[in-house]
Amino acid sequence: MTAIEPENQDRFPGDRQPTVRILAMPADTNPSGKIFGGWIMAQMDVAGGIVALEYAGGPVVTVAVASMKFHKPVFVGDLISCFARVQKAGATSITVLVEVFTQRAHDGTLQTAKVTEAVIVYVAVDSEGLPRALPERGPDFGQYW
Ligand SMILES: CC(C)(COP(=O)(O)OP(=O)(O)OC[C@H]1O[C@@H](n2cnc3c(N)ncnc32)[C@H](O)[C@@H]1OP(=O)(O)O)[C@@H](O)C(=O)NCCC(=O)NCCS
Repeated sequence: MTAIEPENQDRFPGDRQPTVRILAMPADTNPSGKIFGGWIMAQMDVAGGIVALEYAGGPVVTVAVASMKFHKPVFVGDLISCFARVQKAGATSITVLVEVFTQRAHDGTLQTAKVTEAVIVYVAVDSEGLPRALPERGPDFGQYW
């Protein structure tokens, strides 16, 4: 069985499913050989957009990145997991917290780390691309996130 060595905030969330999982590949590196931050941001935007779309029950667009921090570098071969959950819903906007963890295989163990987090705001839109009122959602909606 594979041992997992979590530490503090680097503990991999075991009680939720990641919204997006993907392996960091050589094509995703920057000139210094680490994974390009823009590639990670794209995965995060996809993850946040998925939970926002589910909440909205229809199309959403990204309107703002309210905050973002890259805590640690990501390397080729790291398994990336993006955990996204709705923080706040307004009249038409959905604010989503996206946390990214890596799992790095090493000598039969999986070392985990929280590498990036961001708060991203989405807006539900109608067929004209204009803001659309969000549906009513109960407190338990999306609790599996
Ligand atoms: C998103 C868009 C439809 C919003 O249109 P708008 O006329 O600016 O709409 P509003 O000013 O009424 O704002 C709509 C909601 O977004 C929120 N919002 C707008 N700008 C924001 C910002 N910078 N930060 C956080 N929230 C913001 C508003 O507070 C409002 O929320 P609420 O209805 O929950 O109170 C429009 O700006 C747009 O099409 N932007 C381009 C989106 C895009 O192409 N994204 C990239 C590809 S997905």
